[in-house]
Amino acid sequence: MEYLIKQYPLETGALEIQYIEEFFGEFPRKKTAQEITNRLRDREFLILMAEASLPDAAGTVVPVAFKVVHELRARESEQKLQDLVARLRHCVRFDGRKVLYSWIGGTRRDWRGQGHFRALTEESEAWAHASGFHEVVVKTKNKFYDMRGTLDQLEFDVVKYEVHPSDNRESKVYLSKQLTSDVVRAHTSTRTVVYAD
Ligand SMILES: CC(C)(COP(=O)(O)OP(=O)(O)OC[C@H]1O[C@@H](n2cnc3c(N)ncnc32)[C@H](O)[C@@H]1OP(=O)(O)O)[C@@H](O)C(=O)NCCC(=O)NCCS
Repeated sequence: MEYLIKQYPLETGALEIQYIEEFFGEFPRKKTAQEITNRLRDREFLILMAEASLPDAAGTVVPVAFKVVHELRARESEQKLQDLVARLRHCVRFDGRKVLYSWIGGTRRDWRGQGHFRALTEESEAWAHASGFHEVVVKTKNKFYDMRGTLDQLEFDVVKYEVHPSDNRESKVYLSKQLTSDVVRAHTSTRTVVYAD
């Protein structure tokens, strides 16, 4: 199968992400286009969306999965990112290295298990490697079993585990992957990337 991926610039990409997140019932706190724009404005980022045909209308193509990754610097001004960098300090090296943060992403229920998220992840890794990034980090929670299983298949390594004081399902898991040329060579998905306006 050949995956169709659309790469978006900031403003339209932020609106597309806000729109697709409406289809993710499991997340109560959805990101607004404004929040996405503010986060990504002054840094390297990639907004990717996988598109696929509707099962009962092959000619109609819809967005089915998305992924947003961005540069994470040793010194951040946004409070949430400062906090993230502080939590990663002892397990991710920032000095003289480019670190990528895999911020948000997912696949709509009806299209899960068809390789769309692998295709998006591999595309983001190929872009990141070509852009000089050394490592990609991601954060999830114990209770996100689908995401944990997927990150396992995508060969992310756990670098930190933060126990929640009262509910272990809420405990945070931090994972990372070194972006070597071997990683890019091992990619398996076939992708066509188009650039949106
Ligand atoms: C996690 C999620 C993005 C996976 O998307 P997807 O498009 O179904 O993933 P893919 O089909 O590309 O699968 C990628 C790999 O992960 C594996 N995988 C997918 N879902 C899995 C699951 N629930 N358990 C174990 N492995 C899984 C696939 O087998 C595949 O492995 P392979 O390529 O080696 O065969 C999707 O289930 C989702 O959006 N879940 C809700 C989002 C979420 O939990 N977010 C948590 C916040 S961090």
